Amino acid sequence: MITSTRASCEDLLIWYDRHARVLPWRVAPADRQAGIRPDPYHVWLSEIMLQQTTVATVKAYFLKFVRLWPRVEDLACAPREDVLAEWAGLGYYARARNLHACAQMVADQYRGAFPDTEEELLKLPGIGPYTAAAIAAIAFDRPAAVMDGNVERVMSRVFAVETPLPEAKPELRRLTGLMTPDQRPGDYAQAVMDLGATLCTPTKPACGICPWQVPCDARAAGIADTLPRKKPKAVKPIRKGFAWVAVNHEEQVWVLRRPDKGLLGGMLAVPTSDWSDDPDPSPPFQADWHERGEVRHTFTHFHLRLSVNVARVSDDRRDMRPLGDVTKEMPTVFAKVLRLVAT
Ligand code: ADE
Repeated sequence: MITSTRASCEDLLIWYDRHARVLPWRVAPADRQAGIRPDPYHVWLSEIMLQQTTVATVKAYFLKFVRLWPRVEDLACAPREDVLAEWAGLGYYARARNLHACAQMVADQYRGAFPDTEEELLKLPGIGPYTAAAIAAIAFDRPAAVMDGNVERVMSRVFAVETPLPEAKPELRRLTGLMTPDQRPGDYAQAVMDLGATLCTPTKPACGICPWQVPCDARAAGIADTLPRKKPKAVKPIRKGFAWVAVNHEEQVWVLRRPDKGLLGGMLAVPTSDWSDDPDPSPPFQADWHERGEVRHTFTHFHLRLSVNVARVSDDRRDMRPLGDVTKEMPTVFAKVLRLVAT
């Protein structure tokens, strides 16, 4: 099936040297060739943030994190609550807990220097095969095969792989490995990602200006925009729940921290029922509760509909926090709840 052995890394790197996206965690190709290397801390932080999150969203969070914590040792020393609060809104909160644990391990066990092989990187919290390969390639120029969604799409097109995802993954991984060069593997990995993000896009790929247009088998067959094929996704179920917002006369709300394990673990929240087909409607304590409206939010595996209930309370025995401030420290679903209450 491999007919496209003519796709050359050199052609792609020439394109990358001119068109690489300028991103705050990157060293520009020209500087890189002059011997300047990216900071492994920056590479790691950006790669963790970029899992499941777009480049556009990550930029501001990345800049904020390196301003607050310029070195991995600074992040390691930060209180965990601060790290979780600054992560709020990025989603997939296990990443933030692992980020902090990883920073502590690198600071304590590796004297602040990230290990430079995939094998060692894989031993760190929150670093899986993709991230280990990306850090090894981008920060240390190891010829590791880096395959994310963009790379999958590019490979499936260049080699016209018609097997649907996810079954096609092993084949796409093999092709990604075959293509990975010994020279400039870090730039090459980022070049394929940039190609996927800017020209070889999911719909309407810009084949006419693609550096791999000639060797691309899918383009030759006229099927580029139909690849990669995908098995239809399972329909997400709808779950329901109740949220309870207790507000005092100083516009402070009762908050709690969710248990470490489970969805949104360790994050600040307002109390809620279980989230299910038939959630428990009992409030956490007796008060004059009023239904304020509904908040909808979509998680990876389900849609949530939360009935938001509000009560004025006078006692301050519980953990009360100013409504405006605390919203910024909460996952998006709870920020939506508090914004509804504040309107
Ligand atoms: N997506 C994940 N990692 C990336 C990187 N280093 N550059 C561009 N897009 C990415």
